[in-house]
Amino acid sequence: MPAIASSAPAKAILFGEHAVVFGYPAIAVPINELKTRVAIFALPQATPGQVKISSPMIGMDTTMDQLDPADPMARLFELIKKHFSITHFPACQIQIQSAIPVGSGLGSGASVSVAFLRALSSFMGSPLGDEDVCAYAFEIEKIHHATPSGIDNTVITYEKPVLYRKKKPISILKVKKPFELVIANSGPKESTSKTVASIREKHDQDPFLYDHYFESIGRITRNAALAIKRGDLDTLGSLFNDNQAILNKMGLSTAHIDELIEIALNSGAKGAKLTGAGKGGFVIALVDQKTRERVFRKLQDAGATDIHITTIGAPRLTQHEK
Ligand code: PMV
Repeated sequence: MPAIASSAPAKAILFGEHAVVFGYPAIAVPINELKTRVAIFALPQATPGQVKISSPMIGMDTTMDQLDPADPMARLFELIKKHFSITHFPACQIQIQSAIPVGSGLGSGASVSVAFLRALSSFMGSPLGDEDVCAYAFEIEKIHHATPSGIDNTVITYEKPVLYRKKKPISILKVKKPFELVIANSGPKESTSKTVASIREKHDQDPFLYDHYFESIGRITRNAALAIKRGDLDTLGSLFNDNQAILNKMGLSTAHIDELIEIALNSGAKGAKLTGAGKGGFVIALVDQKTRERVFRKLQDAGATDIHITTIGAPRLTQHEK
């Protein structure tokens, strides 16, 4: 029997990380060069209910019954069982492969959830719609990050640039002029839940200062949405730098992130910043055809890894099934 397969992209937050947890807007985009793929093969000869799972990137080779009930994957199975009102699955082998570096700010957890929910529901004969996928993936985000804003599961489910606000209807951003980003990994990052908790603590200690930071980030994000809609890439670049300056004041940058950003800017990028929770992980730099190769090379020379060039807003067909 042929495999049922689904994929989901990575994501990058362009503006508004952390402030989004406090209700301010943020902009996120799908990164289609990096994907999670989930394939499911029926095992007609195996004992009914036997579900094998392998995921080389996290060294997982197990069965559903052996999962800790607190494991996000166990919770995904429970959500699907409840959705379809079933007690067990047809025997099958589930293979999960992801090119997204784990815990680096590119939404690897949400990407696995979305691809997994799509593949398993298709395997059950009734693919979930985007709304259900997004809501169930959000449940899993709570296990990963305690108090997620919901931006990761939203942008990864809808695979479009979004202007996101907690508990508000999703707003897809129209990109007038496609733009290119170089994305590069600065190295290991502190866990998102820890970083988010530390910002909450700082906010509790000095609400006046942190509300001021969040309001400034909110303003930058709204201006960035306008720049994207107008195709004003020079303004967009300088807004990247403005957002980074505030993230830096909030203590979310590292010496290596600062170094990579400086190198990207000196190599011709229009703007650069960290992306995601910070304290390590990926940086993004706004480039164009003239500067992208140089920025890429210089970041590589400075020790960044997992470097990719991605185009945001290029017309493409949305494909959940690949
Ligand atoms: O680093 P990531 O991919 O976990 O992104 C975290 C983004 C935050 O705004 C810091 C948290 C959130 O839930 O939005």
